[in-house]
Amino acid sequence: MGIKILGTGMYLPEKVVTNEDFTKIVDTSDEWITKRTGIKRRHISQGEYTWVMGLKAATSAIKNAKINPLEIDMIIVTTISADFAYPSMANVIQGKLGANNAFGIDICCACAGFVYGLDMAQRYINTDSDINNVLIVSSENVTKTVDYTDRSTCVLFGDGAGAVVVTRGENQAYSYLGADGTGAELLYAHLYPANNGFTDENVALENSKAFPNETGRYMYMEGQDVYKFAISAMPYAMEKACEKAGLKPKDLDCIIPHQANIRIIETAAKRMNVDMDKVFVNIQDTGNISSACIPVCLTQLLEQGKIKSGDKVGMVGFGSGLIYGAIVITV
Ligand code: COA
Repeated sequence: MGIKILGTGMYLPEKVVTNEDFTKIVDTSDEWITKRTGIKRRHISQGEYTWVMGLKAATSAIKNAKINPLEIDMIIVTTISADFAYPSMANVIQGKLGANNAFGIDICCACAGFVYGLDMAQRYINTDSDINNVLIVSSENVTKTVDYTDRSTCVLFGDGAGAVVVTRGENQAYSYLGADGTGAELLYAHLYPANNGFTDENVALENSKAFPNETGRYMYMEGQDVYKFAISAMPYAMEKACEKAGLKPKDLDCIIPHQANIRIIETAAKRMNVDMDKVFVNIQDTGNISSACIPVCLTQLLEQGKIKSGDKVGMVGFGSGLIYGAIVITV
């Protein structure tokens, strides 16, 4: 019982926006953004669809895994920024890949999405002998949900995709997943208004105020509350996942945290009693790309030879929901 990683891939859009670029559209500075977040630049989509970025990352992961798309049994797409209400991103990507033997599922688990996807992949592989190879694609076009007149949110996010092929292996991954739905109103973005051919505009306007701070189609975020949640939830989830693996976070060879804010990452590392040299950080170059952060980090770690076969890697995410999750995997 267990899984192993066969191949990884990533895609970041060509367009790079620096902190300096933001000073031209909102009242901010490179110094503020760097000091408060650790971000220097981020890649942003120029109208590239979420599925297109996901397909590019998936194609690279499949190539690295040295398998044929027909050998994929299941596709899990994690995203909070799907292109369509329907069909699923997983079905679109299945069709474009020609992965005709795979079925597909989308999951919306915000910035913890990849951890949830990996956990799900292992559960399918462990319980269904027909499922051997699972493709997880985490693709995000978060910037389309961001208000570029709101300096407290717009500087934080980027776009991109990461993908991983996992297969049946000897080492069990250990996970710990959780949520606090009372925090759903702290970070959200609406999808479509619930209007139809019989909608009374005045009644609809009242009904649309279901959450206290409506921002139309754009992201609403209580940054400080999310920050407080993150610095407790990340160490808690990582410690719980490690406990199941019979380890402490400091025993891990490497930790890949969700890349939301360098101060969150450093505080969480301190609380886990882990040195920052074991914690992978690329936030300076990507910003927060939601569920794509962790598989992009994983791909870069493998490409740079910073992790090797047999290493124990902890991945931990948190985000809108409020949601959290950690997983310990042997690469
Ligand atoms: N440039 C300059 N000033 C800014 C700014 C920006 N881009 N954004 C906010 N400010 C200002 C605020 O208006 C405020 O000004 P004031 O004191 O005059 O009112 C001041 O900076 C401090 O704001 P505050 O919200 O207290 O800053 P902070 O240190 O909490 O940092 C976040 C703000 C958003 C970076 C931080 O709260 C955070 O990272 N939260 C978690 C968000 C997150 O991770 N979300 C995604 C989850 S997956």
